[in-house]
Amino acid sequence: MSEIETKLKLSEKRIDLLQKGYQAVLEFTDKMEQLSQFQDKIDIPSNISQIWKVFLDGIRNSIKVEVCGLFLVDENTHEFVLKNVSPEDKGSICRKEIEFQIECGMFSWIINRRQPALIPSFVFKDKKTIIMLPLSTVKRTLGVVLVLAPIEESSITQESLKLLTMLAKQCSLVMENTLLYERLRKEHETLQKAQAQIVQAEKLASIGRLTAGASHEILNPLNIISGHIQLLLMNKDLSSRFSRHLDIMRNQSDRIAKIVKGLLQFSHHSKPRIGEVKINDLIERVLSMFEHEARFHSIEIIKEIDPNLPSIMGDDEKLSQVLFNLLSNARDAMPKGGTLRISAKASANNDQLSGESDFIEIRFQDTGCGISEENIGKIFDPFFTLKEDGNGIGLGLSLSYGIIQEHGGTISVESKVNEGTNFAIYLPVIQNSSNS
Ligand SMILES: Nc1ncnc2c1ncn2[C@@H]1O[C@H](COP(=O)(O)OP(=O)(O)OP(=O)(O)O)[C@@H](O)[C@H]1O
Ligand SMILES: [Mg+2]
Repeated sequence: MSEIETKLKLSEKRIDLLQKGYQAVLEFTDKMEQLSQFQDKIDIPSNISQIWKVFLDGIRNSIKVEVCGLFLVDENTHEFVLKNVSPEDKGSICRKEIEFQIECGMFSWIINRRQPALIPSFVFKDKKTIIMLPLSTVKRTLGVVLVLAPIEESSITQESLKLLTMLAKQCSLVMENTLLYERLRKEHETLQKAQAQIVQAEKLASIGRLTAGASHEILNPLNIISGHIQLLLMNKDLSSRFSRHLDIMRNQSDRIAKIVKGLLQFSHHSKPRIGEVKINDLIERVLSMFEHEARFHSIEIIKEIDPNLPSIMGDDEKLSQVLFNLLSNARDAMPKGGTLRISAKASANNDQLSGESDFIEIRFQDTGCGISEENIGKIFDPFFTLKEDGNGIGLGLSLSYGIIQEHGGTISVESKVNEGTNFAIYLPVIQNSSNS
């Protein structure tokens, strides 16, 4: 080979090397571009599903993906729970793979190292590779991503793996922030609810204190007036005009008595008579008394009551008073008829009530007139009523509120004008009698 030919060959080799280098630089810039795009997209405050979508796109841009599953650590059980999977029908196969990896110890090895790993698959056969990407921050492990790539392990480059590591780290940080934000939001909500309950309880207590003395003073003379009206009405020689006037007087004094008795319930605060209450029986009993009225007002009642509800400790009479109040409010909200759905179920997890006890959730959902946003914050206030012509005193819900509170429970409402109202009562199943 002549000297010129040797130099030519050498130059060709150099050009080839330069081209390869140039290609590598191009690929690197491309990956950096992907990473910065990923950061831009994921930086916006979002929920876990949104983060997962962006993360999945990022993974797909870096490597060929057949199946991809996101497992997150459950805060209560500390187990890895499958939160998202793509495609959606591959959930069970992903779980099986993780279970196997846990059993053979591979899983904990990956979690402890906090580094991605290529591992042989137990479930997915053929020339496929599993990539496990731990999602962790300095303080804790949030979860793990399982990626099934339809290529052999040797075809996965170090660059791709590095890029996946960076994506996983970015994703972990954003997820951690989102989870913390979510927890803070929930705690804030619980605090706000507790605060609203304290304000409501204080309102009831001050009404009680104010009216205690006055109520007794009113009832005594009122009884005398009513007695005399009765006596006059017994007189057969009365003209019809006279007896009409007396009738009006009797109705109005009955109304005063009703208001004052309502007030006394606040002030007296009669101690609840605590005993075992079977909620199913209680609902059935109250409903049986209401059935006729419901039929008369064309109200269809739909019952969805769990037959195996646990008993609670409470005051049967006071609780039935609450149910009556809710029934009569629903009736008044549906003057042209409608549907009232009454449901009751037991549940073990509740953030409506403080503490961890089991509880019973009772719901009254009507298709009535609804309550406007302006009024919904006032309906538990004593003497707040929108019922005209003296049809309401405005004590039903405030009394109910107090009763449910005495039982360690909560009552809340959601409503839409012209669509209906939904009352939810939560009552703890195990209740300390000292609460009452
Ligand atoms: N299911 C409901 N649908 C629409 N509005 C309701 C419903 N329940 C209660 N309200 C509204 O809340 C107000 C307060 O209810 P609450 O039971 O305390 O008093 P009331 O029914 O007016 O009088 P009372 O119960 O003392 O006879 C009612 O006047 C009504 O406007
Ligand atoms: Mg009422």
